[in-house]
Parts: sequence; C-alpha cells; structure tokens
Amino acid sequence: MTGIYALAGPLLRLLDPETAHGLTVRALKLGLAPRFTVPQSRVLQTSVFGLNFPNPVGLAAGFDKNAEVADAMLCLGFGFAETGTVTPVPQAGNPRPRIFRLREDAAVINRLGFNNQGLAAYKMRLAARRGRPGIVGANIGANKDSADRIADYLSCFEALAGLADYFTVNVSSPNTPGLRGLQERDMLQNLLTRLLAARTRMTDKAPLLLKIAPDLDEQALLDIVAVAMEVGIDGLIISNTTIGGRDALRSPHRVEQGGLSGRPLFALSTRILREAYRLTGGKLALIGVGGVSSGADAYAKIRAGASLVQLYSAMTFAGPDLAANIVIELGGLLEKDGFDNVSQAVGIDA
Ligand SMILES: Cc1cc2nc3c(=O)[nH]c(=O)nc-3n(C[C@H](O)[C@H](O)[C@H](O)COP(=O)(O)O)c2cc1C
Repeated sequence: MTGIYALAGPLLRLLDPETAHGLTVRALKLGLAPRFTVPQSRVLQTSVFGLNFPNPVGLAAGFDKNAEVADAMLCLGFGFAETGTVTPVPQAGNPRPRIFRLREDAAVINRLGFNNQGLAAYKMRLAARRGRPGIVGANIGANKDSADRIADYLSCFEALAGLADYFTVNVSSPNTPGLRGLQERDMLQNLLTRLLAARTRMTDKAPLLLKIAPDLDEQALLDIVAVAMEVGIDGLIISNTTIGGRDALRSPHRVEQGGLSGRPLFALSTRILREAYRLTGGKLALIGVGGVSSGADAYAKIRAGASLVQLYSAMTFAGPDLAANIVIELGGLLEKDGFDNVSQAVGIDA
C-alpha cells in the first residue's frame, strides 16, 4: 500500500466514525481511491442466481447508502457491491452520534435508522452508471413514518427496475421500529408475493433476495425459509446486525443501543447461515455476512453454505486493500484444499 493510504487510515480512525465515513465517501467520489487488481482466477469466478461474479467477496449494504461510490468500491477488489438501504422519501435517521467503533472488540454498533437521500437521488446515480461493468445490487427499505411499508418496498423496486443487477429486501434493520415484524410468516409472504408479482410485469427480471436478522429462533428461521422457497425468491442474505451479543464485549461503547456488527457477529451469523443451508438443502442461494475480516473467515462462511459473502465493519479497522487481500487469501485456501472452483466448497461443512 502506498504511503498516503497507509497514513489515511490511522488519521480517519482519530475522527468520529460517521465523519470518517463521510470523508472516505467524498474521497472516493473525487476519484482518490486506490485501485487493486485481484487476479482473475477461475477458482474464484462464480455464477449465482444467473449472475457471473469475478469473485465471491462483496461490499455489504450501508457503506454506500446513496449509490455514490459503487464503482470505486469495485476497484478495491470487491466482486460486487450492494448499495442502499434506500427508502422512497429522504430520511435524516436518528440523532448523532449513532455509529460507534468498538476497537477492543473489532466491532461496530450503529443506530443510523436508514439515513439516506431518498429514491430520486439514488435512482439518478444508478441510471448514470448504467452499462458500466461490475455487479451492483440495490438494497430497498421502508420509511420510518410510512403508512404502508409494503408499498414503500414496491415503489423502490418498481422505480429501480433495470438499474440494479439484483435487489435485496431489507426487513432486518433493528433501527427502524417494527421493521423486523415483516419477517413474520404472513407479513413476509404478502410482501414477497407482491414484489414477485411486480417483477413478472418487468422487462428486466433481476434476482430478488431477502436480508434477515441473526436474532431469530428456530421456528422463525424455519418460517422464513419455508416462505422463501414457497414464493420462489432467489436467495437469502444472512445476516444483518444483532441486537444481542453485548455480554461478551469489552469496549466502553458496548452499552450503546443499535445493531452490533463485526467480529462478535461472526459465530452467530455463521450458525444461522449453516442452519439455513441445511433447511434449504442447498437449493436456495445464500450470501453470508457478519464479521468477515479475512480470507479464512470468508472461506468458513462458504463452507457453512454461502455461495457469496459480504463485509462492511472490518473495513473500519483495516486499510483499503482489505477486500483484495481477502480475495487473494481465499483463492489460496480453496486451491490448497484442492477445489477447482469456489462453488465446490459451498456447504461442505454444513
Ligand atoms: C454503519 C453501518 C450501516 C449499515 N447500514 C445498513 C443498511 O443500510 N442496510 C442493510 O441492509 N444493512 C446495513 N448494515 C449491515 C451490514 O450490511 C451487515 O449486514 C452487517 O454489518 C454485518 O456485516 P459486518 O460484520 O461485515 O459489518 C450496516 C452496518 C453498519 C456497520
């Protein structure tokens, strides 16, 4: 890594996390991002829900809420980038401070509450990058004060048709009161059925994924998997941040309200991922998210059942070469174990 980037990280970490994130996004928009070429390896290339990924390591939602820097993130080595969560109407979110860095725990707590510039601005940016290479997903949500949350998901989905390579229905943020209620069987069935019905009317039939919480008991997970398979969505993203897990933390910020992510989420989210893989018998594509900070972590998620992985929090503590390093390390681990392609390792430990 060149000097300037080696210096930028520690300096940014002296700032409040949201200020540091805002500066990073601005720098990326100005084209100040480094470029890391990851090897185009046949071991890492993978086809999932009809899309061809150069590698299975993606950027998780929440880093690029307004779809401003997806292409810059792809240049860091990510195999795909998920933008959003976007809501129909711009939203300020909760009062600051609302992101906390838990250095001792390699973790983050956030209670942003879907702060974003709204659908119109988001749509304009995705439209401006249309035709460029690279897989970019759109993560859609509902406004906090919406009278009809299902209608919010539908209007985001319909407005963005043809502008994203895949869509993620986010019903698992802990920071919008009541949102996780949409994970319940009947509500979920209604939401997904209506989105899939809308898709049948679209020319561009992009894959539709559901992002779930890690805080689910056995029955709740069973219900979600049953609904997902029955209605025929294309995959599950497992998982969003957790509202639990505080007891094991050491950082003074452990008392903050919000969703916990990063290293302490790894075991929980991987357990839910593995259970989902067993329940689906490998028939539904799964994206593993939560606490990935190395090639070995990504490999463990894949072996537990993930066809693709995503990460966010680890970037708070590492340099911009993190994604590229993970991709390279993962390729080495797959080759060492004799796999010709990453798809052969999916679910092998489940
Ligand atoms: C600051 C912050 C903001 C986030 N915002 C969103 C969001 O808008 N939508 C979403 O689906 N997930 C959001 N997430 C959750 C991440 O996408 C991811 O599921 C979670 O952080 C676990 O991955 P990680 O441990 O690699 O961070 C956010 C996470 C963080 C740390």
